Amino acid sequence: MKKIILALDVYDFQKAEKLVKETSSYIDVYKVGSILFLQSGKEIIKIIKDNGKDVFLDLKFHDIPATVKGSVESAKKLGVFSLTVHSIGGEEMLKAAVSVENRPKIWAVTVLTSQITTLEEVVGRAKLAKACGIDGVISSPLEISLIKKECGKDFNVVSPGIRPAKANDDQKRVATPEIAVKAGADFIVVGRPIIESENPAEVAKSIYASTLIK
Ligand code: C5P
Repeated sequence: MKKIILALDVYDFQKAEKLVKETSSYIDVYKVGSILFLQSGKEIIKIIKDNGKDVFLDLKFHDIPATVKGSVESAKKLGVFSLTVHSIGGEEMLKAAVSVENRPKIWAVTVLTSQITTLEEVVGRAKLAKACGIDGVISSPLEISLIKKECGKDFNVVSPGIRPAKANDDQKRVATPEIAVKAGADFIVVGRPIIESENPAEVAKSIYASTLIK
């Protein structure tokens, strides 16, 4: 499977559909977060799947265990490939999430990449998630190798905070796609560098090329 996940952080369904069509040669998984899900959740999920692609539902569940378990059940009915929960929800919540049978992959956010934090905090959250049966974490490229070392190579690390070139935005813990892939990222999540560019297909192509390095 290709390593880039494209974050479809756009307001309008037509724009999202166009992005899926334009970039499909380089991307196998599309991320639907709260911005697009609240506008046209089911329709865009259908379009992504009709194009033969997978959906990563990034709604970062963080609630009481019973509610999170129910949310995972509902996401499962949508047929998504993966979804997110917040590690900050704690052990009982994480265990409730994974208790759903035949569920999508569940990835736990360690600490948002827009926040400054410590390696200890991030690795502690990753270890907690692993101990609860979670499939992997969402964490910045700067933490990938340590998480892989502490949690094992089969524990997924999915990294946002990917910046091919220097950018001035809200992301704080960032690195290039090459650095993230070399560090062992299973997937990199890229949004604005592709969706806000003049030629999304070209940028997706060049980031895809940089993920093929050994
Ligand atoms: O536009 P950009 O490349 O920064 O997009 C990153 C995406 O990854 C956004 O959709 C954001 O919600 C998501 N994300 C993140 N940090 C996390 C978890 C998810 O940036 N820890």
